[in-house]
Amino acid sequence: MRLLMVAPPGAGKGTQAVRLASHYGIAHLSSGDLLRREVAAGTEVGVQAASYLAQGDLVPDAVVLALLGPHILEAAARGGYVLDGFPRTRAQAEEAYAVAVRLSGIELQAVVHLVVGRAELLRRLRARAGAAGRVDDNEAVIHHRLEVYESETVPLLEFYAGRGLVVAIDGEGPVEEVFRAIVADVDALRADLR
Ligand code: AP5
Repeated sequence: MRLLMVAPPGAGKGTQAVRLASHYGIAHLSSGDLLRREVAAGTEVGVQAASYLAQGDLVPDAVVLALLGPHILEAAARGGYVLDGFPRTRAQAEEAYAVAVRLSGIELQAVVHLVVGRAELLRRLRARAGAAGRVDDNEAVIHHRLEVYESETVPLLEFYAGRGLVVAIDGEGPVEEVFRAIVADVDALRADLR
């Protein structure tokens, strides 16, 4: 199974991706986690990415593609993946698709779009900021991340909808309820495609 989560900050991509990876026995690949790991380790990629993460801007496509590419190929060879946060721009999606056309067995099979209203997104991100928090969980950066999602990531949905891959899920309910809805719709989509 090869899945992609597309949703705004705070919608539950990471929360659900962990559960989906466990349910389907596939790898969870979070671009944000991989980037934060590079920053914490002080690698060359981390140094390049740090200010983008802190400001809620997207890290340049070339940096992200070079970081994620090998992980995706490895996961695809081992049974699949749930991508959490990559591709996140139309350019990233087109580049990933071009690679998938050349190499069979790595292309996406479903795109999970979590739909959560702005008030609930803000409530969740503010709650996390007040607890553990991330460098980008502060009021100004949270608002900027939501704007970047609208301008850079929403156009991806049209790209994937054109390929019949998108399932839209109400992500406002309790975690387990959202998880069950995702699995039901992904399994139904996969059955339809067979
Ligand atoms: P990334 O790490 O992907 O962060 P994000 O998109 O801002 O998303 P979040 O992690 O904040 O939210 P989420 O949707 O995963 O929700 P979560 O499950 O955590 O990216 C960070 C940065 O990295 C970007 O800004 C950019 O700089 C860079 N980057 C990453 N990918 C990139 C790419 N491809 N290209 C360029 N740059 C890239 O949940 C949020 C909170 O809500 C949690 O506290 C959780 O417990 C809670 N919660 C979740 N579900 C529920 C629920 N159903 N009910 C109640 N609470 C819930």
